[in-house]
Amino acid sequence: MPDLLHAGASAPMREHLERAETARGRLRERRGDRWYPRFHIAAPAGWINDPNGLSYYRGRYQVYFQHNPFAAEHDSMHWGHVSSSDLVTWRHDPIALAPSTEEDRDGVYSGSAVVSDDGELVVFFTGNRWCNGADDADGNLQVQCMAVSRDGIAFEKRGVVVDRPEGIAHFRDPKVWRTDGVWHMILGVCSADDRGEVWLYTSRDMRDWEFDRVLFRDPDPAAFMLECPDLFPLPTSEGDKWVLLYCPMGTKPSGYLARNGHNAGYVVGDWAPGRDFEQLTDYLPLDWGGQYYAPQTFEAPDGRRIAFAWMGSFTAPLASEEDGWSGQLTVPRVLSLGDDLRLRSRPVEELAGLRTESLELGSFELAAEEDRVLLERVDAAEVELELDLAASAAERVGLAVNKTPGGHETLVAYDDLARRVILDRRRAGHGDRGYRSAPCSGDRLTLRVLVDRASVEVFVNDGAEAITSFAFPAEGPRSIELYAESGSARVTRLAVHRIVSIWEGER
Ligand code: FRU
Repeated sequence: MPDLLHAGASAPMREHLERAETARGRLRERRGDRWYPRFHIAAPAGWINDPNGLSYYRGRYQVYFQHNPFAAEHDSMHWGHVSSSDLVTWRHDPIALAPSTEEDRDGVYSGSAVVSDDGELVVFFTGNRWCNGADDADGNLQVQCMAVSRDGIAFEKRGVVVDRPEGIAHFRDPKVWRTDGVWHMILGVCSADDRGEVWLYTSRDMRDWEFDRVLFRDPDPAAFMLECPDLFPLPTSEGDKWVLLYCPMGTKPSGYLARNGHNAGYVVGDWAPGRDFEQLTDYLPLDWGGQYYAPQTFEAPDGRRIAFAWMGSFTAPLASEEDGWSGQLTVPRVLSLGDDLRLRSRPVEELAGLRTESLELGSFELAAEEDRVLLERVDAAEVELELDLAASAAERVGLAVNKTPGGHETLVAYDDLARRVILDRRRAGHGDRGYRSAPCSGDRLTLRVLVDRASVEVFVNDGAEAITSFAFPAEGPRSIELYAESGSARVTRLAVHRIVSIWEGER
């Protein structure tokens, strides 16, 4: 009943939404589920990338996302939508925004949401047009647009609010918030001299926006565009500091850093309305994994700063394309700042509510070359592993997840030679194989590992570092094993949990 679903949408967009919904319905019928996530947000079918419009509105967490409902590839961007009252039980909502005007004819691109004083959900997004009408080969024309909703489901577009300055290509991804009664919008920009910048605009009424300043210019001359910027305060013992997240395009791999086609990171600084951003730290990745991009945050009603990111890739081949879907979001993570001005990211506490059949396996010595089966026939699980490294001799100790009868597996391990945690997909089964690695320090190590049907998220030392990658298992039942190489390991705690589905009606 697509016409009923979109009854509240403005008439010109309704037709586009109905067409999108019908096409997605057809794609959904042939979706393959061997890798379709159990506890990560994905579209019912088709492609997704960035999380958009994150907000808490009308008693529900609202998560929109870049979405192509016609195919499992990046094209014709819409805003898809899911919502939840508790961050763990999610409902698929109708597609929220479709290209329907001249300004957004080639894509309703990324953006954000705020709640206005009169109770409307106001979203800002980039209207995208290709100069040549077909693709980005000859550049783009990008403007910032506004749309409003009274229920979070049906939107009415309100036109362009920030026009593109002459000669500027790459001008997108508005993130809006209010400080001291003034609305602020930041955007990612490629400057006239080809440098990645974040520009700031301000407004009193959300309609009329004035350019305030170039808030940030990436010191790395290779970065020509900073996608999906976000700026927000977090407390430290010396007061609030401001975290600037962004995704630099053009940076080159260097050691363990910037290994992906698309990378996301942050700097921390001081900022106040009417002031420049004073950068206090160097750029660091927010996550060391192979697929972690375009994180966006919002403030939950209880004050937590929650981030979702896109677990996907524009460049690495996605095995799930042949199953009619592509891309998913990370689990929601709470961000906090240490006094060392480093971000920590931990899964929201609510996630523990998805655990079932939990087993505490105690503390023990794992012998050198030992493999111990922890879970069998499992496609969604969480493992909590604590190690006493000072009492361990193993060169590598960790988990083989998504282990299948043909010998395929993905490894999550502490590597004592490198003194780092690795996520290695050399024998994952399908898709991109690279390995990724995060630093760790100290004599004790905790790993919290979330394994879904097509992904692995690793949290090191209570979120001090994270590693997030796709992992497409091979055919057959999947198991999880603990292993040690070339020496024994002292396990101080081990707990395993199966994880239930996040989708309403699937438990
Ligand atoms: C980042 C991005 C954004 C853009 C959107 C288009 O992944 O390229 O800059 O708004 O995706 O889908």
